[in-house]
Amino acid sequence: MHEGRTGILVFDTTLRDGEQSPGCSMRPGEKLRLARQLEKLGVDIIEAGFPISSEGDYQAVRQIAADVRGIRVAALARCNAGDVTRAWQAIERAARPRIHTFLATSDIHLQFKLKISRQQALEHAAGAVALARQLCDDVEFSPEDATRSDLDYLCQVLEAVIAAGATTLNIPDTVGYTVPHEFRRIIEAIQARVKGIEKATISVHCHNDLGLAVANTLAAIHAGARQVECTINGIGERAGNAALEEIVMAMHVRPDALPFFTNVNTSEIWPASRLLSEIISFAPQPNKAIVGCNAFAHEAGIHQHGVLSNPLCYEIMTPESVGAPGNRIVLGKHSGRHALAKRCAELGWPISGERLNEIYQRFIELADRKKNVYDQDLLGILSAGRPAAAEPGMSFAASAAGD
Ligand code: KIV
Ligand code: ZN
Repeated sequence: MHEGRTGILVFDTTLRDGEQSPGCSMRPGEKLRLARQLEKLGVDIIEAGFPISSEGDYQAVRQIAADVRGIRVAALARCNAGDVTRAWQAIERAARPRIHTFLATSDIHLQFKLKISRQQALEHAAGAVALARQLCDDVEFSPEDATRSDLDYLCQVLEAVIAAGATTLNIPDTVGYTVPHEFRRIIEAIQARVKGIEKATISVHCHNDLGLAVANTLAAIHAGARQVECTINGIGERAGNAALEEIVMAMHVRPDALPFFTNVNTSEIWPASRLLSEIISFAPQPNKAIVGCNAFAHEAGIHQHGVLSNPLCYEIMTPESVGAPGNRIVLGKHSGRHALAKRCAELGWPISGERLNEIYQRFIELADRKKNVYDQDLLGILSAGRPAAAEPGMSFAASAAGD
């Protein structure tokens, strides 16, 4: 089924990086509900939280680890013994636990945030990974702010953590600073230069500050990354993380250009997006790719005519393929007669010919005054001036001449 295509692991961090964004915090029970949906969605790994950050998050991660058995459950930890141990306690009951430990490697973070030297950071990173490996077979390391780190130093740190036992090396574009061709070169350089790299999986974690998170992620896959970190609806720190639905559907819709696949069941994308929106009480922006409420909506007359004739005219994927309700024809001042006639017929008022022209004129006058014309408005137009005998279901086409 995926002949000639390479599998990519999906690491969902909605419950950790996503939850860290303003207005997105979740209660333990809500995190558990979403974790179950993520399992149903078919992601490979979920990052359930950052256990040292609060007792509530520790408990949430612990509960998810015990409950969600079909996929890997990761917990985040800084590179110190307290964090690593706490992360392990939270996930020790998981069927397949992973400790994810991170430390910044850029000079700006080392100097101003951590106030340690490059050598000290390298030692902390290797030490934390070694400790994590004593507890857990599956250890991921992230050099935070990797894309603004000195490449030679970054490679040295990666080599040290591989030697200490890291099994996944995640390269974060923490501040959404890189661009696709540059990120591709960074991943290629890591592959070429880091000793022992073949023993580890390369992962990427892109933020969206320049709106390039998904493009950077796809560029990294071309360079050899085999795990992508992402979130539902693209939520996450500041402008968010790479959106899971966009990465997955890009591969799904364009296997010719992107010969990769994931284990995601695409028809669970919309339910996951809606569940998240319900939990955090805000929806993705209306024009958000794949999951925005306008992603499958059409208002312009030419587009409506095209979609009604054949959805492929203006839709590169079906709403059903992502579990969304069917496409939405929105009636407004840009709509044409085809869409209007179809909606009238659906409401039980089939019209055509002169009658259609007449209703269309009244509809456009109303649409100029109102943004959208709803079914109630249409029913008002259709029934206005009709004799009492005129009931929905009766065609006016034949009697239009008498109007
Ligand atoms: O953006 C980032 O660098 C992170 C790390 C913890 C992976 O979220
Ligand atoms: Zn992040």
